[in-house]
Amino acid sequence: MKVSGQPEHGGRLNAAAERWGIPLGQWLDLSTGINPFAWPLPDVPAEVWQRLPEPDDGLEQTVLAWAGAPDVASCVPVPGSQAAIMALPGLRGPSRVGVPAPGYLEHGHWWARAGHQVMGLSPQQVAGGYERWLDDLDVLVWINPNNPDGHTVPPERLIGWCKRLHERGGWLVVDEAFADGCDQISLAPFAGMPGLVVMRSLGKFFGLAGLRAGAVLTDDRIAQALAEALGPWPLSGPARYVMARALADEEWQSSTAQRLRANSARLHRLLAHHGLADSSGTLLFRYLPHPDARSIADGLASQGILVRYFDSPPALRLGLPGHEAQWQKLERALSGLSNVIDQ
Ligand SMILES: Cc1ncc(COP(=O)(O)O)c(C=O)c1O
Repeated sequence: MKVSGQPEHGGRLNAAAERWGIPLGQWLDLSTGINPFAWPLPDVPAEVWQRLPEPDDGLEQTVLAWAGAPDVASCVPVPGSQAAIMALPGLRGPSRVGVPAPGYLEHGHWWARAGHQVMGLSPQQVAGGYERWLDDLDVLVWINPNNPDGHTVPPERLIGWCKRLHERGGWLVVDEAFADGCDQISLAPFAGMPGLVVMRSLGKFFGLAGLRAGAVLTDDRIAQALAEALGPWPLSGPARYVMARALADEEWQSSTAQRLRANSARLHRLLAHHGLADSSGTLLFRYLPHPDARSIADGLASQGILVRYFDSPPALRLGLPGHEAQWQKLERALSGLSNVIDQ
């Protein structure tokens, strides 16, 4: 069911299969920014499925240590950062809220739905060292690196924003869904600072979007209010079990970061080779403004490749192919589109 008024997302492969008349199994889905090589799942003991989740199983400490957060930080595990995106707006009275534009639309949607006044901020509006624009806001949501364009703001600048907002009781909410594997970008080491909310997710880098697991690192007051809003057992026992083990697997994380860096660079080169040189992005996707984005997306879909299309500005976002055969499928499809791309 598509509920009207809700933001669009990638990953709707069933609908694409029906629209293009191509069987589900023949598609290459590049419409999301999810690691195609997910963390390998362990067997989950039967009792983890059968018992209620234990809140003192040590998951919070594991998350804090993994993220490099200080002792003053509090951690609230959440069923995907989406759950925090939906709950946070209910924790404040009417506020003026800035969200990145372009950006992951769920943030603005949920703050507006809770009755707050939401304004979109472009990278140009926040460029430079002049920060007076912050004084028109009570809350700033920033996605770092941003989805879909990969735009990244250095942590020290974000901390300056947080301090300025906090002087008036404001918050800085930083969505770090795509920060895993990037050096020195996370604000987790500053978590606990009043008014700072850092969101992490296991859906992207770990490739476990279906697990619905993530965490919020924040000050004690906001953590208490968020935990109360989410109620008991927001995360299933199996999700807590898998999350703790994935976060402890440092070897997998460092080899994955290397692999994703190489593959993201490969995708950038592949696009450039086919006349699409202007892509920006993250370790997990490339973003490509192009006047004929719609025709390119349709041309790829007609060959069984689903990418994310944005209409304003016209742009595409491509996630990483996984196995070699998938890279070759993309390469062949792009070669066949040279007449559309070169126009
Ligand atoms: C920037 C960003 N934040 C948060 C989410 C939500 O992810 P999850 O709920 O799986 O953590 C997404 C999902 O696409 C996203 O792109």
